[in-house]
Amino acid sequence: MNDPKVDILVIGSGIAGLLFSLKACEFAEVSIITKKERAESNTNYAQGGIAAVLDPLDSFESHIKDTLIAGDGLCDRKVVEKIITDGPTRIQELIDQYNVNFTKSSNGKSYDLGMEGGHSNRRILHTKDLTGQEVEESLLNAIVKNHIPIYENCIAVDLIPRNGKIIGAYVYNKENREVIVIQAKIVVLATGGAGKVYLYTSNPDIATGDGIAMAYRAGATIMNMEFFQFHPTCLYHPFAKSFLISEALRGEGAVLLDKNGNRFMEKYHKDKELAPRDIVARAIDDVLKKTGDDCVYLDITHRGADFIKQRFPGIYKRCLNFNIDITKDWIPVVPAAHYCCGGVKAGIDGTTTIGNLIAIGETACTGLHGANRLASNSLLEALVCAHEAALKCKDLLKEGIDFHKIKPWEPGNAVDSDEAVVITQNWDEIRRFMWNYVGIVRTNKRLERAKKRITNLQDEINEYYWNFKITSDLIELRNIATVAELTINSALSRKESRGIHYNLDYPFKLPEAKNTEIIKRRKWV
Ligand code: FAD
Ligand code: SIN
Repeated sequence: MNDPKVDILVIGSGIAGLLFSLKACEFAEVSIITKKERAESNTNYAQGGIAAVLDPLDSFESHIKDTLIAGDGLCDRKVVEKIITDGPTRIQELIDQYNVNFTKSSNGKSYDLGMEGGHSNRRILHTKDLTGQEVEESLLNAIVKNHIPIYENCIAVDLIPRNGKIIGAYVYNKENREVIVIQAKIVVLATGGAGKVYLYTSNPDIATGDGIAMAYRAGATIMNMEFFQFHPTCLYHPFAKSFLISEALRGEGAVLLDKNGNRFMEKYHKDKELAPRDIVARAIDDVLKKTGDDCVYLDITHRGADFIKQRFPGIYKRCLNFNIDITKDWIPVVPAAHYCCGGVKAGIDGTTTIGNLIAIGETACTGLHGANRLASNSLLEALVCAHEAALKCKDLLKEGIDFHKIKPWEPGNAVDSDEAVVITQNWDEIRRFMWNYVGIVRTNKRLERAKKRITNLQDEINEYYWNFKITSDLIELRNIATVAELTINSALSRKESRGIHYNLDYPFKLPEAKNTEIIKRRKWV
């Protein structure tokens, strides 16, 4: 970056960051930084699609009701209503302004609407099973057309707070290994999720919860981190790193089987394979624990080869690479960490508890998802919140915000690390104990064990952080550790089971549903 001073600094180039930037560039100077190649994001891997009420037989009331049921008492009703009723407008904008090409139904007129767990109507707009890729590519094309600068391989290290407001960020450039200061009137966190805090995840490597950790260190309120959603069906194969098998397969009739071919979901829920995600994930976990098997299976072979190849070309091809022909074979699947329902406490317009800091997309916690996210509601949330955040930023800039002088990054006496093994060791350890102790089914004892371990590791990581020159691995390790700590502390503080948080020591729901909020006490500098 030549001039590290910009009206709005957007951190992240997934759906939230890109759509926000396209809107904000109309009234402000905007720069995007992103820590890898521009398309690398959770967005790019989204398969199922975007939930919105488009079918005349569907209704906002029904989508709202389904969202509230999944959220298990913790959704903010006003937020749910706003996001769902604005959905169709934002979708139309994707189609008309950004040329997103959703799959049409066979009549070529209306859109083909998919079905997923917890939805009582077909309402998932999709581009076959490659929805995220289509959205990401279309928005990136528009970014180029609008000449919005986007800086790849630049990873935000920390936000810079002053007097209760954010005035910029420290950013590490992976190419020249330098940390620069970027002054900004407003900083937008669009840094996505945190699946990499768990050993098994559907998320790509970028999902290390950086935005949540940075906001926490800067003093923002972090909400509901105990609600980490596990997707029931990720491909189980030694060489398939993080590959999701979309819920849309179950929406089109795929059934779950144990290794003997027995369908088991009817024992767990009346809606069987289309029960809400937490119930399906827990049912699979239960089957695996009882049988000692490594995986269960998803069978869609009865839909026929033509339909399967046409509707799920991405999954078909990827599985074939592993010698699994999904038109003939059962697909081996296991649950994996998928979506962070908690995050930086934010309004629909992205406003956080810190001035001039906006959080949108998966990194934010707006109250839409409550204790469990309804499938395909997150891309929808990102669309609506990016739009609302842009309107808010326009007002904030009109009111007037000044730039502030910021001290350059001080490396102090830090030297190059000669023990990078500490990073891999700690990273593996965190991800493994998070999986084993803070996973799908929790107990007080397991959570306490995890707490002890993260406390010890935090000391080691902090010491390492201040003694050695930073690298992107170290930045991410520090953030993963913070996300783990926030998740464990939130889980320990919830003395009930609700939504995706399931604790065997409290197998009941308390009468009053309360959010969990965590704030780091710090002196403003
Ligand atoms: P992301 O798309 O994850 O983008 C985050 C961006 O921030 C990335 O560019 C990343 O590189 C950047 N970044 C992160 N940290 C830093 C840093 N420190 N410095 C600089 N840059 C940084 N949701 C649905 O609604 N429907 C679906 O069908 C669906 N399918 C999914 C399938 C998969 C496999 C996965 C993983 C998720 C799926 N989800 C789905 C969830 C959904 O994709 C995400 O919630 C959504 O894309 C998040 O968008 P975002 O813009 O908030 O974050
Ligand atoms: C899927 O395609 O199963 C993912 C949908 C989602 O996470 O919303």
